Amino acid sequence: MKTKLPKQFIIALFILAYLAVAWSTNTLFPNQNITEGQSLISSNGIFELGFFRPDSSTDRFLGIWFRASTDTVVWVANRDNPLKNTSGIVNIHNNGSLALYDSSGRMVWSSSSNATSITNDVSPLLQLNDSGNLILKNQASDNTIIWQSFDYPTNSLLAGMKLGKNLKTGFETVLSSWKSSSDPAEGKYKYKMDTDGAPEIIIWDRDQIRFRTGMWNGLFFSETPKMLTYRDMFTFLFVRNQDEVSYGFEAKSASILSRVYLNEAGIMQRMVWDQDQQTWNEFWSGPKDECDYYAKCGAFSICQPNSVTACDCLRGFEPATPTEWYMRAYSGGCKRRTPLECITNSDGFYVLKSVKLPDSHNATVDANISVEECRIRCLMNCSCLAYSPSNITGKGSGCVMWSISLVDIKYVNGGLDNLHVKVSKSELGTTNKKRLATVAGTISSAVFVLLICFVGCLLWRKKRNSKQDTKEKSLAQNDSFKDADLPVYDMDTILQATDNFSITNVVGQGGFGIVYKGKLPHGQEIAVKRLSGNSSQGLNEFVNEVTLIAKLQHRNLVRLLGCCIHNNERMLIYEYLTNKSLNIFIFDAEKRTTLSWRTRLDIVTGIARGLLYLHHDSRFNIIHRDLKAANVLLDEDMNPKISDFGTARLFEREHAVLCTETVIGTRGYMSPEYVREGKFSVKSDVYSFGVLLLEIMSGKRNQGNQNLVTDAWKLWEEQSILKLLDEVVESTVFASDLSRFIHVGLLCVQECPDDRPSMSSVFMMLSSDNLVLPTPRKPSASRSIGGFTADHHFNESDIISVDQLTITGIEGR
Ligand SMILES: *[C@@H]1O[C@H](CO)[C@@H](O)[C@H](O)[C@H]1NC(C)=O
Ligand SMILES: *[C@@H]1O[C@H](CO)[C@@H](O)[C@H](O)[C@H]1NC(C)=O
Ligand SMILES: *[C@@H]1O[C@H](CO)[C@@H](O)[C@H](O)[C@H]1NC(C)=O
Ligand SMILES: *[C@@H]1O[C@H](CO)[C@@H](O)[C@H](O)[C@H]1NC(C)=O
Ligand SMILES: *[C@@H]1O[C@H](CO)[C@@H](O)[C@H](O)[C@H]1NC(C)=O
Ligand SMILES: *[C@@H]1O[C@H](CO)[C@@H](O)[C@H](O)[C@H]1NC(C)=O
Ligand SMILES: *[C@@H]1O[C@H](CO)[C@@H](O)[C@H](O)[C@H]1NC(C)=O
Ligand SMILES: *[C@@H]1O[C@H](CO)[C@@H](O)[C@H](O)[C@H]1NC(C)=O
Ligand SMILES: *[C@@H]1O[C@H](CO)[C@@H](O)[C@H](O)[C@H]1NC(C)=O
Repeated sequence: MKTKLPKQFIIALFILAYLAVAWSTNTLFPNQNITEGQSLISSNGIFELGFFRPDSSTDRFLGIWFRASTDTVVWVANRDNPLKNTSGIVNIHNNGSLALYDSSGRMVWSSSSNATSITNDVSPLLQLNDSGNLILKNQASDNTIIWQSFDYPTNSLLAGMKLGKNLKTGFETVLSSWKSSSDPAEGKYKYKMDTDGAPEIIIWDRDQIRFRTGMWNGLFFSETPKMLTYRDMFTFLFVRNQDEVSYGFEAKSASILSRVYLNEAGIMQRMVWDQDQQTWNEFWSGPKDECDYYAKCGAFSICQPNSVTACDCLRGFEPATPTEWYMRAYSGGCKRRTPLECITNSDGFYVLKSVKLPDSHNATVDANISVEECRIRCLMNCSCLAYSPSNITGKGSGCVMWSISLVDIKYVNGGLDNLHVKVSKSELGTTNKKRLATVAGTISSAVFVLLICFVGCLLWRKKRNSKQDTKEKSLAQNDSFKDADLPVYDMDTILQATDNFSITNVVGQGGFGIVYKGKLPHGQEIAVKRLSGNSSQGLNEFVNEVTLIAKLQHRNLVRLLGCCIHNNERMLIYEYLTNKSLNIFIFDAEKRTTLSWRTRLDIVTGIARGLLYLHHDSRFNIIHRDLKAANVLLDEDMNPKISDFGTARLFEREHAVLCTETVIGTRGYMSPEYVREGKFSVKSDVYSFGVLLLEIMSGKRNQGNQNLVTDAWKLWEEQSILKLLDEVVESTVFASDLSRFIHVGLLCVQECPDDRPSMSSVFMMLSSDNLVLPTPRKPSASRSIGGFTADHHFNESDIISVDQLTITGIEGR
């Protein structure tokens, strides 16, 4: 290695230097030189600056090393321009830069300097700081730093140094390896902060990624949980703000000598000096196993170190090219087995625990939201593939969402990062075998045909009437909307009203976005629905559509007040209803006791009225597609108002959001033909209405283990249909009404869409107690259709609906 200065020589030199006036151990003034054999020593005696010669080399370099370990060079000035002999001279140029000359006076190296700091009255001074930083200061202007070696590191990161990027100026601090142990010239490896997405440190092998540390999770880099065990020795500093992204560390005691360095083989090592043994101990190094080769297993796979078959596809994925996979030529990676449908209840998450999080270069980060909101955003965003908290401290917070691909995941021993991977729900538990329903059509028909005729007649009459009504109504509406545009709220108003979309204002989650409660300046309470997904729909088209929906006004529909458009984001503003949604009442052990039969009958009738309006009486013939208890809101007088109508219509055109041919709807409420064939019509809404009716009457959900439809049918056959009634409500004064309602409910959930009555006849049957009702046919026999009861793997929290005040996740708890 480099020549070690004889002690006596140094002492003699110091004495000489002191005698020669201003020579101080750590400072060089403009009129002074450093030549071979001379050096600067930091005042704490830890670092030294001088000339050295690497092992088995004759070249000489100016560098800084640890005095405790003189062959540990941490910085090199002229790394690419060696001196050939011992006659180099260093001094401070009078224009304010540090320069190194060879004996012929040729400048071999000089400190680069941002010229702006060089003024006429520059009075430079060079100092080797206690941290090993060589600093050129301007005494004439308050000791401002003209240049410092910490900004131009070579292969070592020292305590107090920062690695990263100044986002304002673009200035980057990067480590680069030596070419070889005897040549400090810039080698092929670089150790660099990737500031895009969720920042992490990357080791580059020329222009290829060799290794990633994984993103910073608030405590450590995803792959280095070991950093936690050094917390009593070091403070790790990770900064991410508008000005900079940087990483550095401080030693907690001045006696700890440490460095992180990138060696000639492209391996980074954290070393700590052992004073007793006089050696460097390695605390951590990387890359270290086969899984540390970047993207070794390709996309959507996970690497398990030290196992025979290192590569595995993520759950829900299969080898993209099976033969290649078998040959362990993994570059092909894996592909998704069941496509994501990207609707509320079709996709879910599972957790990959203790992993190095995937390449986060293209990830979207929002440190300001909760993990729960992150989950929702990811669920709502079709391009989101997985998410993770951005800060795992405590219960975790913030949000990192991956799109495009998931690359370079590995299991990490002791890792604390969990990746929540989005897959189709069918990949989560049971396989949803779509069993064909066997139609049990044994009901005698003569009576039935007569009845159908009868109902048909009534229907026709009603239709004729309602048609005339509608004509008048729509004309009137047209007039009132003639020139009045739909109110468009500006973003500031909405932000103010919802407290910047504060999570505490979230009142629910619908199929198409998150709903926030808000309060306008004049006190009106509103519900703001932030539509999720990038919109491909044009602005005009959107406004037209919303205007159209706003025209649907009925006392049993939630009123749309306007919309808000901000950049790519669209929001719908609705009236806010104090009693929230129906499911909060009917499925709650306590609240449901407050719903008398009268109220329940009125609610059912109100819903029927609202739906009838949507189907027939409005001139737009809207099919709701997601009628359920959570989508029925209640005002202060417990009047039901259907919400979320027309939203499906807004989304229908947006292929970006709803991949074509996807099924919108909610488990338990979807009609068999809709589930099986994706066919829907007004009769699908009638089916949902039937289920909802049975739920209101029974206080039970048609979900999970409960197949309310089948249960009701059994009771019907046993002629004890009143047993279905919610036992918490006493009094059977309405017994005939109650059994009629359930009867109508059973008519609505019949297997065959044509058998189901239209909403106008439903409404009539509910309102009049002297009609002879048709006998219902058996509802769908297949359990998997009636209520998805075959599928218990999704519990309540898995199904996110408008009512839930707190949005809960299932996994990882
Ligand atoms: C510093 O070196 C220069 C040659 O580069 C020489 O002219 C000068 O006298 C030296 N100064 C001192 C103080 O040794
Ligand atoms: C040192 O090397 C330089 C070239 O780098 C040369 O010009 C000079 O003459 C050499 N001096 C000695 C004393 O060898
Ligand atoms: C200072 O002078 C040297 C030699 O003339 C030159 O190479 C260097 O760029 C100058 N530095 C500045 C900041 O002007
Ligand atoms: C020298 O480094 C120490 C930390 O080791 C720091 O606190 C101090 O500000 C530095 N001095 C200068 C002049 O930059
Ligand atoms: C000059 O560059 C140094 C880094 O080399 C930086 O710390 C300093 O702020 C810069 N000064 C100005 C005036 O830009
Ligand atoms: C992470 O969260 C903890 C606790 O909430 C907080 O103290 C810390 O500042 C956060 N860290 C970052 C980098 O945001
Ligand atoms: C990031 O996005 C770019 C551009 O779409 C793509 O080429 C690259 O492969 C992506 N990287 C990862 C890790 O997904
Ligand atoms: C996150 O929240 C903090 C404090 O509330 C705020 O200063 C910062 O601007 C927010 N950042 C973003 C990206 O919204
Ligand atoms: C969905 O995710 C992509 C990629 O992360 C992002 O660019 C887009 O803005 C997200 N859309 C919404 C509505 O959040």
